[in-house]
Amino acid sequence: MSSPSKLYENSEVGGGTMKISVRTGKRLEKISKEALAEPDKFWADQARNLIWFKEWNHILEWNSPFARWFVGGTLNASVNCLDRHINTDTKNKAAIIWESESGETRTLSYFQLYRQVNKFANVLKSLGVSKGDRVTIYMPMVPEMPIAMLACARIGAIHSVVFSGFSAQALIDRANDAKSKVIITADGGIRKGRLVELKKVVDESLPSLPSVEHVIVLERAGNKVNTGPKDLWWHELMEGAKIYCPPEPVESTHPLYILYTSGTTGKPKGVMHGTGGYLTHLYSTAKWVFDFTNQDIFFCTADIGWVTGHSYIVYAPLMHGITEIMYEGAPDFPKPNRYWAIVEKHGATILYTTPTALRMYMKYDDDGVVSNSFDLSSLRLLGTVGEPINPKVWMWYFKRIGNENCPIVDTWWQTETGGTMLSMCTGIETIPMKPGSATFPVPGVDAVVVDETGKPVEPGTKGYIVIRKPWPGMFLSLWGNDEKYRQTYWTKFPGLYYAGDYALVDEEGYLWLLGRADDVLKVAGHRLGTMELESAFVSHKAIAEAAVTGKPDETKGESIIAFLVPKEGFSDYENLRKEVVAHIRSTLGPIAVPNEVYFVSKLPKTRSGKIMRRLLKSISSGDKIGDITTLEDEAAIDEVRQAYEDLKKMVNS
Ligand code: WTA
Repeated sequence: MSSPSKLYENSEVGGGTMKISVRTGKRLEKISKEALAEPDKFWADQARNLIWFKEWNHILEWNSPFARWFVGGTLNASVNCLDRHINTDTKNKAAIIWESESGETRTLSYFQLYRQVNKFANVLKSLGVSKGDRVTIYMPMVPEMPIAMLACARIGAIHSVVFSGFSAQALIDRANDAKSKVIITADGGIRKGRLVELKKVVDESLPSLPSVEHVIVLERAGNKVNTGPKDLWWHELMEGAKIYCPPEPVESTHPLYILYTSGTTGKPKGVMHGTGGYLTHLYSTAKWVFDFTNQDIFFCTADIGWVTGHSYIVYAPLMHGITEIMYEGAPDFPKPNRYWAIVEKHGATILYTTPTALRMYMKYDDDGVVSNSFDLSSLRLLGTVGEPINPKVWMWYFKRIGNENCPIVDTWWQTETGGTMLSMCTGIETIPMKPGSATFPVPGVDAVVVDETGKPVEPGTKGYIVIRKPWPGMFLSLWGNDEKYRQTYWTKFPGLYYAGDYALVDEEGYLWLLGRADDVLKVAGHRLGTMELESAFVSHKAIAEAAVTGKPDETKGESIIAFLVPKEGFSDYENLRKEVVAHIRSTLGPIAVPNEVYFVSKLPKTRSGKIMRRLLKSISSGDKIGDITTLEDEAAIDEVRQAYEDLKKMVNS
């Protein structure tokens, strides 16, 4: 090891000198250069870290815009997460330390997890689930959720997890698009001390789900639920299940899962990930970014309903054989200190969380009152994901939580990219950090910032982040919709992957993410599409038209704000507002509930009939209204502004 060459000083945020030793970035530069000179060879070397039944014939078939990695190779994801450890010292190590909101703890060793996964794989098989079938998983954050996912992977079935904060309509859209054969759920989940009635949502959805043959129900919350002819109890099925299920060798390009995510069109998109490429990307990026060691206790606070949980609770940590913490519950229940209490209790060494959670905690941490009351000295590394992090919050995280001893990895990536794309790689070298910058692309990822014409921009100029070369974690396509895949991601800049984020590069080459460039919202780190929300609003009988936009929110990053045009004859706005909010809660789910709802008689549209959400956003954020030359009817702006002002007054009075 060479000696540290530099300590980083950050004057921009008044940060002072950090205690961490950092290096110049030369090592990263060298590896990245080599990787991009021969990306195929580079990624093939990485793929050799996995367990393969058969090695590939071709590293990459790039039929733009479709990438197929390690073609001809066969493997199994559950073997890579479990079987690979059970003849090693990792066998008896804790794989998952689970903690509930009430403080109850369960620990599963790698062997126990392996056993459960094998048994549940046999359960699925006995129900007629086979390779390529889709299984929807709609569960609370309990160990049975990764067990179900890995059991699917073991038999080559494709899992499709639906976040438990979604309700019936969201579940129906997702399970129908995937034509799932089985739904796995629970009698309930617990959030903020309250019961989340997942089974009830499944019951409501079932009449609209013709493909579903069975519903497997986990007893979790002691909640009495109705049982219908398709329902089966998890524990009863497991009782008689055989303990070993031979893993299905699947092609590297075989879909491991579908995860629905929001885009700019009404229906959610089924992002489909393969097996060999995805796992290779995850294995390597996890090692580079987090530098996992045998002693680590990794605490990723994401919900498995989102991609961060798929990649960094299920697949990456288990492939590396480390111990991880899985927490079911809210970060602020019963008190706004749960993550710190968990770090202290279990001795977490790495914390990977969202700026939203950090902003919330920072609010309660007057002069370190909360953070100082816990022993957080086990931490050696901190991470963030999901949204841009404000430099002020970054500094608080660095000082109060990391005690200036822990580097921060700000990881930028997306459901579509599978794994981290931009981040400092502490497993390669810790470089000078800049609060709010995701630093550089990970090795083998060719990310640049371009202008409207697709040309790289000068340093300091805002542009769009694009990826120029295929990467192994890249999704295969959108489930059942290659055309939409092509159109959404590959037409704005032909030949370049369009991520939908604004970014800039500074003079030293550091990348800064500047938020979404499209109509996707990031509410408390959750990705929501304005169009999906609008469809849900107009599915209410009193609403003729809806426009949804995001408004900056101090804690959640963004909050949902809706402008609604009621149908003729509806004028009791106060009641209607309540009704509409309840409707959103029961159709899309609690996470989609708007913060503000306004009623207007018309919406600002372009002459071609498109709603000008940008304009609504400017009005609600109090920003300057930009170019309105394409607007059809200027009176609509005044009306929206008036409705907004009136309501503000009402709320304030
Ligand atoms: C945003 C989450 C800034 C971004 C893993 C991206 C970020 C979207 C960061 C994907 C970050 C994610 N800094 N913005 N470190 N990480 N984003 O699919 O807008 O839920 O396009 O995946 O989150 O959200 P998704």
